[in-house]
Amino acid sequence: MTLTRRNFVAGGSLALGLGSLTTAALKKEPPISTKGLKDIAARRGLSFGCAVRDQHLSDKLLSGTITHECDIVVAEVAMKWAINEPLKDDFQYNAADNIVRFARINRLALRGHTAFWYRSVPQWATGLLRDRYREKVITDRVTEVVRRYKGEVSEWDVVNEAIEPRDGQFRGLRTAPFGASTGIQYIADSFHAAHEADYDAKLFYNDYGLEYDTPQEDARRAAVLALLTDLKRQNVPIHGLGLQTHAGVGRRFDAVKYRLFLKNVADLGLIMRLTEFDVADRNAPPGFVERDKAVAAHASELLHVALDERAVKGILCWGLRDQDSWLAQNGKRKDGLAPRPLPFTDDLRPKPLRSSIAEAFANAPDR
Ligand code: G3I
Repeated sequence: MTLTRRNFVAGGSLALGLGSLTTAALKKEPPISTKGLKDIAARRGLSFGCAVRDQHLSDKLLSGTITHECDIVVAEVAMKWAINEPLKDDFQYNAADNIVRFARINRLALRGHTAFWYRSVPQWATGLLRDRYREKVITDRVTEVVRRYKGEVSEWDVVNEAIEPRDGQFRGLRTAPFGASTGIQYIADSFHAAHEADYDAKLFYNDYGLEYDTPQEDARRAAVLALLTDLKRQNVPIHGLGLQTHAGVGRRFDAVKYRLFLKNVADLGLIMRLTEFDVADRNAPPGFVERDKAVAAHASELLHVALDERAVKGILCWGLRDQDSWLAQNGKRKDGLAPRPLPFTDDLRPKPLRSSIAEAFANAPDR
């Protein structure tokens, strides 16, 4: 069998000229403590990765850490519609292409994020999405981006964040960006278009707010489950659910509820990944040591349950270094201290959160 990007098995570690960690790893089997998270995950048939921004890939220490730790990457921003087509038919793929090249050179699997997301609709398309030809406008975009990266992207977040029960619409569907609920036709059509554009890509629906024990997240879980059930019933080509898992210290977690939700999704024949994992530390103490401990403890509690479900195939963090987290802008603490939601410090030293992820992988049942 020829080694293509698609059939590359997650867990490989051939990093070409990027970082001393990986070079060392190639020379001889490293001791267990220097194994990357991807290696610890691979022993259980699992996978580890992170979100990347193309401007970071020239940073040797960061890219070396990424290739040491990860067998899969996802573009944090570069494959969103507003970035790819800011003006109609004016396609901008430089940043995305750089990430594709980085993944290819380093033999990392690549997630596509995201073919359609209500928050990344280019200005020119917003009016079009309010008329009755909206499905065609959306599927044109989905087809364009999925076809462009056919054979490079192994799995796509086809539709991202289509559920918002607070909008009060049929089935908990989000009204944005349409102005009113339009039903699930656009979602079904998007998956069909993605499948037509790349038969081999695994197709995911991706969403947040599915972990905690609150009435709001109860409603979100119910709505996502209903959506997935409808799509499966209609024979829509959907393969997985992306659990974003933007976690937070101090939030009410009920392992029984969460476990049942994962099982219900698995029973539909879908796989899952934790796709945007991080742990907000707004409610954790100010001192770094206590804070990192609280973040790690919260992660352990959640990850053990998540990885117990065999249909969950791995974890991607939404960045590796604290300074790169979206929470640096959006997760401000009352005391003004910078958040520490990711597994590495700004100078790329591993934090207790990294150990929690490693332990959760090590203790997970085999896939
Ligand atoms: O890179 C430019 C920089 O050159 C410029 O000076 C600066 C000024 O605003 O903007 C920078 O780009 C920003 C980019 O992040 C990189 O930091 C964009 O403005 C900003 O909109 C963009 O935000 C991203 C957001 O999605 C919108 O695309 C976040 O990084 C990214 O973490 C966030 O990710 C989302 C997931 O896609 C879906 N789930 C929730 C998650 C968090 O919101």
